[in-house]
Amino acid sequence: TVGNSTNIFWHECPVGKLDRQRLLNQKGCVVWITGLSGSGKSTLACSLGRELHSRGKLSYILDGDNLRHGLNKDLGFKAEDRTENIRRVGEVAKLFADAGLICIASLISPYRKDRDGCRAMLTDGNFIEVFMNMPLAVCEERDAKGLYKLARAGKIKGFTGIDDPYEPPLNCEIEIIQKDGVCPTPYEMAGQVTSYLEDKG
Ligand code: PPS
Repeated sequence: TVGNSTNIFWHECPVGKLDRQRLLNQKGCVVWITGLSGSGKSTLACSLGRELHSRGKLSYILDGDNLRHGLNKDLGFKAEDRTENIRRVGEVAKLFADAGLICIASLISPYRKDRDGCRAMLTDGNFIEVFMNMPLAVCEERDAKGLYKLARAGKIKGFTGIDDPYEPPLNCEIEIIQKDGVCPTPYEMAGQVTSYLEDKG
């Protein structure tokens, strides 16, 4: 029995992960970007995707906001829905990594146990957690979508950082921080991640 299914069997196919890695000349992995709304997750994801593409590396972005238009459109923002959101995206990211791609997942993913659940799905250091460590005040000041304003006015309930928790990572691989009160540029942030990926082969 697996989950709610009984009498199910796993099929192995002759072409495996290593064959795909050789074909693509790269190793699959998951770069998981977590942080508050407005912390720059999507900006980093796009910048990193562009940088990898220019270096001939195949990547694909799984963006929380975008996936909620399709795969996850049945989910809202209550705790159990966010947990299911992260679990599903973790499973999809794992498939992309297995396919040989550098999968860039960009979601608030506010709960530590949910992110750790995704980490546990991937072995051999193939889960690289990137924490967008931007102060709430900076994210709120940006407020590109006007959501913080609505949350402060009580028009959105359970908004992350306002009246819903964000649990920062305790042991992330990469942390994006301000230096002397200045945010790194998209290019600098992407560089921080590509350097890490290069170091790890
Ligand atoms: S989560 O918490 O990981 O399941 O969220 P995610 O799938 O990444 O979706 C976050 C985007 O949804 C918008 N939004 C909200 N965010 C936080 N809390 C509440 N209540 C909420 N309602 C809508 C918001 O645009 C988030 O986008 P980003 O890109 O993070 O700003």
